[in-house]
Amino acid sequence: TGAGALVPDLAGRHVVVTAGGTREPLDPVRFLGNRSSGKQGYALARTAVARGARVTLLSANSELPDPAGAEVRRVGTAEELRDAVLKAAADADAVVMAAAVADFRPADRAGQKIKKVEGRDPEPVVLVRNPDILAELSAGRAAGQVVVGFAAETENVLANGQAKLARKGCDILVVNQVGEDRAFGTEENEAVILAADGGETPVPHGPKEALADRVWDAVTRRWSAAG
Ligand code: CTP
Ligand code: CA
Repeated sequence: TGAGALVPDLAGRHVVVTAGGTREPLDPVRFLGNRSSGKQGYALARTAVARGARVTLLSANSELPDPAGAEVRRVGTAEELRDAVLKAAADADAVVMAAAVADFRPADRAGQKIKKVEGRDPEPVVLVRNPDILAELSAGRAAGQVVVGFAAETENVLANGQAKLARKGCDILVVNQVGEDRAFGTEENEAVILAADGGETPVPHGPKEALADRVWDAVTRRWSAAG
């Protein structure tokens, strides 16, 4: 069930969605990245526009076309995404972190392209932790603002998801079951939506748009519960 596109139940709301995957530069031409396509985040942005929201989409390196009606801002690294999302979140009713944020970044970014040295192995790449944007958003959220995280788990999906929800301190965690050919870059997703009040909503295998609509349903339930 759920409202679907015809009922503008997100009208008057500002929602922020992050999508894609961050890239952490090693030098001007190379980066550490991940396989996130941005499809789930873009589906969240499109469905929110269809349901009447004002949508800010923060896109990390996605090649997908801008969704009509959303304000799209492009970011590269986790630190750029953090700055952009904290700024956009200031007046947001909901923030959905669908982006795959790199946990680590190279400690140093070479100013010039790294060159081979004849007869020598390369220097090891030293990594440092990136800020945890979702935890920071959750800790700093205003009353009534709903913060949503996404997690991809390969095993113990429910237990790992519940632990992550508690650790991050967010309102909702959407846990994707991933495996060899599941979720990454595909059109379809299978997930369970965990809420901080203990709610567990399984979403059967289906289009990312359908999962997106169920996420907005869960967000509207949290707004109602907050009064
Ligand atoms: N996330 C974030 N900032 C980070 C890492 C992750 O905001 N530095 C967000 C992601 O956008 C996602 C959620 O946190 O919404 C969960 O990401 P995940 O990688 O599953 O969580 P981690 O805490 O990084 O756990 P793990 O060690 O399993 O990767
Ligand atoms: Ca991670």
